[in-house]
Amino acid sequence: MVAEMRNQGDFTTSEVEAVFARVPRHLFAPNETPEAAYRRDDIVERKRDAHGMVTSSVSAPWLQATMLEQAELRPGMRVLEIGSGGYNAALIAELVGETGQVTTLDIDAEIVERSRRCLDEAGYPQVVVVLGDGEHGAAERGPFDRIIVTAGAWDIPPAWIDQLAADGRIVVPLRVRGLERSFVLARDGDHLVSTGHRLCGFVAMQGEGANQERLTLLRGEEVALRIDGETPTDPDGLGASLDMPRVEVWSGVEVGGFEEFHEMDLWLATKADHFGLLVAQQSARDSGLVAPGTRMGAKTIIDGATFAYRTTRPTSEERTSFEFGVYAHGPDAQRLAEDYANLVRVWDRDHRYGPGAHIEVWPANSPATGLPHGRVIGKRHTRVSISWPQGAVS
Ligand SMILES: C[S@@+](CC[C@H](N)C(=O)[O-])C[C@H]1O[C@@H](n2cnc3c(N)ncnc32)[C@H](O)[C@@H]1O
Repeated sequence: MVAEMRNQGDFTTSEVEAVFARVPRHLFAPNETPEAAYRRDDIVERKRDAHGMVTSSVSAPWLQATMLEQAELRPGMRVLEIGSGGYNAALIAELVGETGQVTTLDIDAEIVERSRRCLDEAGYPQVVVVLGDGEHGAAERGPFDRIIVTAGAWDIPPAWIDQLAADGRIVVPLRVRGLERSFVLARDGDHLVSTGHRLCGFVAMQGEGANQERLTLLRGEEVALRIDGETPTDPDGLGASLDMPRVEVWSGVEVGGFEEFHEMDLWLATKADHFGLLVAQQSARDSGLVAPGTRMGAKTIIDGATFAYRTTRPTSEERTSFEFGVYAHGPDAQRLAEDYANLVRVWDRDHRYGPGAHIEVWPANSPATGLPHGRVIGKRHTRVSISWPQGAVS
């Protein structure tokens, strides 16, 4: 597993690579085969709720490595992990050494019990496992040099900032307009500044900080828009628009098969006033009702009763390159599709090879005038500002 991770570029430091070689992952996956426990991509020990939704798991090794590299852990640090599985806490314990302190916290009593048992069996009795809602952190064990969150957070609760050491950092999979990125947040006076972000996907945070995404059904449960933190102004109109002819616009912007373009998604989510993810069942795709470019939720711009979502078409016979296009439905479909395609072109021209988005997290009561120029997304406790470097960088 470690050799595979090294080949795939999961490690940027020898310290993180060394702890993956040292901690026996199979001891934290007692219900899995050893083969499954040692696969770079495999999420193990999935626990589901009554609706079949995964509520807990031991995350995939590549993602754990990515976030541990983001955290830049050093010997002697005090670390809080929110969302427990045992294995990641053991990796952290190895990285902070005997002089460090690790607290791992979970909202699910069964997970707390399993983490405790596995940590003891693997030889990490010093890791403290706590039952509680991560929303409140673990004040009695703070302040923390690092808070590493391993459930999809919708907001940054005040407790995390209060319990963070002056030069501490929070590594957190934060959902912004339905898009999840693992951000590294450092304190800067009264707000936090992101020093980098990586694509990730986690089970949703439960408890008081549970996320605020809602489904707007367009055609029963076959086609829906998943929208974060707001309700569309004309949900019935959006459903009716699906019966209107589909407008199609191609952007002329191509990507290679393996090129990542997550930053474009963040760009679109920042530029559109109303943004969501189009999700569709297989039957809706088979019948041609919708043709999204991804099964993970097509990035969609919404304007009243009109919506436009992204799709792709291959531009080589081997299907190694694709062009971005837009499909739109509704009374203003042509205009919205053109606007969307233009945003893709501007991303391609000005931001594709640039430094990407700059993100800051401010207290909810901060006056808008003090925030960087860009999109400000209101959360319960904070205002998340996303801005982009001005002008062309290419
Ligand atoms: C992906 S798992 C954690 C994986 C773990 N860090 C590992 O070793 O790979 C996410 C965990 O977050 C927990 N969780 C969800 N909401 C929580 C909350 N509000 N407070 C604490 N834990 C929470 C879930 O019960 C679940 O066990």
